[in-house]
Amino acid sequence: MEANDVAACWEANAETWTRHARAGYDLYRDAQNTPAFLANLPGIAGLEGLDIGCGEGSNTRKLAEAGARMTGIDIAPTFIRHAQEAEAETPLGIAYRLADGMALPFGDGSFDFATAFMSLMDMPHQDKVLAETMRVLKPGGFLQFSILHPCFATPHRKVVRDENRKVLAIEVRDYFRPTDGEIESWRFGAAPEHEKASVEPFRVPRFHRTLSDWVNMIVATGLAIEMMHEPSVDAETARALPYLDDTLVAPLFLHMRVRKPAPAV
Ligand SMILES: C[S@@+](CC[C@H](N)C(=O)[O-])C[C@H]1O[C@@H](n2cnc3c(N)ncnc32)[C@H](O)[C@@H]1O
Repeated sequence: MEANDVAACWEANAETWTRHARAGYDLYRDAQNTPAFLANLPGIAGLEGLDIGCGEGSNTRKLAEAGARMTGIDIAPTFIRHAQEAEAETPLGIAYRLADGMALPFGDGSFDFATAFMSLMDMPHQDKVLAETMRVLKPGGFLQFSILHPCFATPHRKVVRDENRKVLAIEVRDYFRPTDGEIESWRFGAAPEHEKASVEPFRVPRFHRTLSDWVNMIVATGLAIEMMHEPSVDAETARALPYLDDTLVAPLFLHMRVRKPAPAV
């Protein structure tokens, strides 16, 4: 599957996704994934940043609120429109652009840092996105990204629970089977039943890669790995939001920070 087909799927998802994410139904993102990501982010105040696959812009706004001058790009026009409308309503100085992460429309060395929240595993040629990101970063700049965990969120992940809903295990299959746009259909699980019933499920093309594929792509690009993190809910959050308790047993997300080497002085 190529970028045009991926864009068509995301464009079809974008309206409901935006409405549901803004209603707070993307619980994994809001209660776990983004807070953990931001907790590990180096200081970005005053820096020039690029958010790749920004969606409707929720995380881009958080980066701007932390003091960065942000540009957000996404392949789906409806996401960009919603992000721009939010910017017009509450200006944070963010520039949004329709663009493909595999062909970034920016000059070499344009950004101090880049982020990609849960978007790289949705792109067919992750090596190209990494190469493009490397190109638009200044020497010494970093990319921090989150992806579905390659080991525990394979094309088949099933949460096994006992009769009291306690998580017993995570069942994983097909780790070694790379996928080329295999469609996963789902809705935000935290949405109320009547909302779920009233919308078409999202259709998300997946491009699963193994952990060693990811590390080898990063190393081949010339980026240096400086941080990895596998967020898990703490016991208190799991009690308050039992929906997220599968991540007590095995992580759903993987975070990495990689850096473009600066020339030796
Ligand atoms: C799971 S959503 C994450 C959105 C947002 N970063 C967030 O955390 O809420 C993945 C995003 O990647 C975007 N995307 C997929 N392929 C892309 C590509 N080749 N270039 C740019 N964006 C892309 C999708 O349109 C979608 O907005």
